This record gives sequence, structure tokens and C-alpha cells, in this order.
Amino acid sequence: MTNAGTGSSTRSSRPRTAELVRRARETRGFMPDDEGEALLHAAVRAGRSWEGRGARSAVMVEIGAWCGKSTLYLGAAAEATGAVLFSVDHHRGSEENQVGWEHHDADLVDPLDGRLDTLPHWRRAVDGAGLDRTVVGVVGDSAVVAACWGTSIALCFIDGGHGEEPAWADFRGWTPHVATGGWLAIHDVFPDPADGGRPPYELWRAALDSGEWVEDGECGSLRILRRVAGGPGTRSDRKE
Ligand SMILES: C[S@@+](CC[C@H](N)C(=O)[O-])C[C@H]1O[C@@H](n2cnc3c(N)ncnc32)[C@H](O)[C@@H]1O
Repeated sequence: MTNAGTGSSTRSSRPRTAELVRRARETRGFMPDDEGEALLHAAVRAGRSWEGRGARSAVMVEIGAWCGKSTLYLGAAAEATGAVLFSVDHHRGSEENQVGWEHHDADLVDPLDGRLDTLPHWRRAVDGAGLDRTVVGVVGDSAVVAACWGTSIALCFIDGGHGEEPAWADFRGWTPHVATGGWLAIHDVFPDPADGGRPPYELWRAALDSGEWVEDGECGSLRILRRVAGGPGTRSDRKE
């Protein structure tokens, strides 16, 4: 683990954060414990970086919530820093979660319509953790939400659809909203194709190659980047 996991100066030792981490670990999902804590520590840094910028809270955005595991890690950081987390997911699962695919869970299917529905599980996790005033669920397609978004983001976590089309739609839709000095976290980045799918790795590479982002830590397949140029209001092609 590199920089992303070094959280000695964060508030993770405080009882409330420790309780939220415990809950996150018990929540069903796709985030290993060490990566979850690395994500939490990056988000704490993002939340703190906003302090002193006026009355507005730092805004964090999560793309891909599933049953709320990463939501709780990010929610813990948001709560500790007075930030607000918007958690975006259509809650119908990605391609690999559908019937016949590797990551399908039959008990997440709504018996009424036969469709996958993780929203009740996500809500139970967030409400049970007492994060309902810190975390705002946004139920819908990520690209549609991104197209309507208008607020600078302190930290964006991309863990939605991992196929080429949804992953690039997330990258193109959300990264323009990340403030200069803000953070981008991408999950399931595998430099070796033998370890996993390519799109998250390609997003990470594209960010670095753009010169607008620098590496700011990693843990497992989690990559943390920090924006050094090109944030909202600085791009020649935007009028913000
Ligand atoms: C890998 S899971 C997220 C795992 C989660 N971060 C965790 O900690 O367990 C990917 C999620 O992205 C969501 N998703 C996939 N494509 C999406 C899209 N186009 N818009 C919104 N959500 C999407 C799926 O519904 C699924 O819940």
C-alpha cells in the first residue's frame, strides 16, 4: 500500500469512524477492507481540503454503490469532514451481475418483477449507519446524472459499469466536474490484463496521460489521482 493508505493523521481512530468502518466491512459488496480504508483516507483529505473555502460543504460523488459498502467508507469520511456524498447508481446491477454472469446474486432479484434491485440493501446500509443526512442517493443512469451536474466535486469515486461504454461515459461525464486540487479514485485498475478487465486501467492511464492528474496513492486495485490542472472553469471548451 502506498500513499492512499497512510491515514495516520485522519480521524479513523475516532469511535464513530471506527464504527462506520466496522459496518462497511460487514456490508455486502466488492471492496476489500484495505482498499476501503484507503478510499476513506483519500476522502478525508478531500473533505479537509475544502475547509476554509466558505460555507459550502465539500461535495463527493460515488459512481457505483451496489449494496452500500464503498458508500459507508466514503460516508464515514464525509461525516468526519462535514461533506456531502452523492451516491449514484441505477441499482439494477452491471452486466456481470445479471443472470448467468459471474457476479450474479439471485437473492438480490426483486420477486415482483424479476429484476435485480440493490436499492433496498443500499438504503438499509446507509440508514442503519445513521448516514442519511450525509449521504444522498441518486437513483438513475450515471451518464444522465452527469450531464445535468453543475457542482464542483472534491472527490469522485468511479466504480460503476466496468464495460468499455459505461466506464468511459463515467470518465467523460464526471471528471470535468472535479475541482483542480480535487481527487479522483478509480476502482479495479489492473495493469496486468490477466488480473481483470481493461477499461478502468485505461481510464487511469488516460487521466495520467492528459497531464491534468498526478498519482496520489494506490492500494490493491484502487488508484487515487489528484487534479493539478483543467478543473471546472479552467477549460477553454467550457463556459462555467
Ligand atoms: C462493482 S458495483 C459497485 C460496487 C460498490 N462500489 C461496492 O463497494 O461494493 C457496480 C455498480 O455500478 C452500477 N452501475 C453500472 N452501470 C451503471 C450506470 N450506467 N449508471 C448507474 N449505475 C451503474 C451497478 O448497478 C452496480 O451497483
